Amino acid sequence: MRVLLLGKKGLLGQEIVQVFNDSKHEFFALGHDEIDITDHQKTNETIKDIKPQIVINAAAFTYVDECEVKKNFVMQVNGYANENLARMCQNLNAHLVFLSTDYVFNGQKQEGYKEDDDPSPVNVYGESKLLGEKLIQQNTDKFYIIRTSWLFGMHGRNFVKTMLETAKNQNEIKVVDDQFGKPTYSVDLAKSIFEFLNNGYVKSLPKSGIYHLVNENTTSWYEFAKKIFRVKGLNNKIIPVSSDEMKRPAKRPMHSVLLNTKLPLMRNHEEALRDYLLTIDI
Ligand SMILES: NC(=O)c1ccc[n+]([C@@H]2O[C@H](COP(=O)([O-])OP(=O)(O)OC[C@H]3O[C@@H](n4cnc5c(N)ncnc54)[C@H](OP(=O)(O)O)[C@@H]3O)[C@@H](O)[C@H]2O)c1
Repeated sequence: MRVLLLGKKGLLGQEIVQVFNDSKHEFFALGHDEIDITDHQKTNETIKDIKPQIVINAAAFTYVDECEVKKNFVMQVNGYANENLARMCQNLNAHLVFLSTDYVFNGQKQEGYKEDDDPSPVNVYGESKLLGEKLIQQNTDKFYIIRTSWLFGMHGRNFVKTMLETAKNQNEIKVVDDQFGKPTYSVDLAKSIFEFLNNGYVKSLPKSGIYHLVNENTTSWYEFAKKIFRVKGLNNKIIPVSSDEMKRPAKRPMHSVLLNTKLPLMRNHEEALRDYLLTIDI
């Protein structure tokens, strides 16, 4: 299988590189410095040269708060670039894998969201990712939209690192206790994406559609922070606060809990967190 990854230097991209490099597949990976997905012509020329059977797009603009003041730009990166990729993949008979987010939902459904529930984002980042999802579905019949949430891992910025860094300088840390989701370890996600595609390659590729891939068990940021500190043996005081008290430029969905009803379930996030914390030295 010839696979092309876009966004190879991101939090998730670097883990996808790892799993595919260890595999027998012909694997190509490009970073932002090599290809800008909003440059449609150059992107298309590159894809034509490589002739992949699968394109994984892990490139995105992911600064949720900044998105609020860069709407046009964000729509290009997270939205329209995927329209171009979808058309290109359709022409080449390749499958497009698009990483999407729990933030396409408004978070009002307490019981969580199935793959076919109606999205209704509450911020620009969510709108832009939903635009990407829609444009892909309109322009190719060979796509996998994989939604995930609350990523943590070795590479890039994430909540776990922020908590541990903050704990060095602050005895008391305020954390929101009214936003719920499923924290997901980038290593587990990369492996699950690999298995999804590789199993498909061995048998026949899975059906095009929307999939949810997340570590299991729902938690709040507050409870998640407590779990992090418990595993690390830290005694800093974590103070629960509401989202209203900790206003951010972009509104967040309150219950953006993804339900995986189509694929094998991933392990729970507590176990994944323990493994992750063994690998970092903060
Ligand atoms: N992180 C999360 O909690 C989370 C949750 C749900 C879904 N997701 C989705 O999962 C995917 C991967 O996220 P991530 O956390 O790995 O993001 P990330 O760490 O921000 O990585 C994204 C990568 O995309 C690159 N990029 C940005 N604009 C680009 C452009 N125009 N052309 C080419 N590359 C570009 C970035 O390069 P530069 O840094 O050089 O700009 C970066 O290397 C994204 O689709 C994201 O929406 C993430």
